Amino acid sequence: MRVIILDDEALATDRVAALIADTLARRPAAVLGLATGGTMEGVYARLVAAHRRGDLSFAKARTFNLDEYLGLAPTHHQSYRHFMAHHLFDHVDIAPENTHLPDGMAADAGEAARLYEAEIAARGPIDLQLLGLGANGHIGFNEPSSSLGSRTRVKTLTRDTIEANGRFFEAGEPQPRQALTMGIATILDARSIVVLALGAGKAEAVAQTVEGPVGARWPSSALQFHPDVTLVVDRAAAGSLAMRDYYEWVSAHGG
Ligand code: GLP
Repeated sequence: MRVIILDDEALATDRVAALIADTLARRPAAVLGLATGGTMEGVYARLVAAHRRGDLSFAKARTFNLDEYLGLAPTHHQSYRHFMAHHLFDHVDIAPENTHLPDGMAADAGEAARLYEAEIAARGPIDLQLLGLGANGHIGFNEPSSSLGSRTRVKTLTRDTIEANGRFFEAGEPQPRQALTMGIATILDARSIVVLALGAGKAEAVAQTVEGPVGARWPSSALQFHPDVTLVVDRAAAGSLAMRDYYEWVSAHGG
């Protein structure tokens, strides 16, 4: 795994936005795997700014998001469809029909999951999959104990995740306990993966992702099986890496 440690959140976010912009510059019709969460807001703000400067076009790109809450309509202010529209899609030149998220309102969620997986298989592979990390090591909504061979399906969220994401919901507002999420095997099918983790709250998940034993307790550890993963972190999120000096040395020597 390529580990890039930068001084602060802004520099780490800049780097990830640049990796996405480079992919689109090299391959305008790239298939991008996208993520939600507070960590990604700065990434999308930078991509929107680059588009407004005329430096970046999504006109030929296609996107697949990792996950969507079950039971939230696309117009709900906490649905991931709404998050993506608000932070990215409404501000760039992407064709709406080229943006894909799992259908959280499907009458048959299992069927919606199978359709999503089939759509990725038909249009993919995903060229660059963007990932955040849950503090518990989840990627997408693949909570601890997820099968490392999983495909898109319904997952019940852990209490930790419901609490962590509760900050985005109004007090007293019903919060979903389940989501449709790409599986770990779906994520590992991407040609390349870029992970962004910021802040001390992610330090343990970062260390487990890079250095921990591979296992379902920390789903992000499955990324160790992928040959092209770039993990970008700020100093705080790098705080528990045992081999941090080595990663910094490798970065400094261009390895
Ligand atoms: C959610 C998403 C994940 C994301 C995680 C981290 O649970 N399903 O894809 O990585 O949140 O969110 P944040 O960036 O807000 O810490």
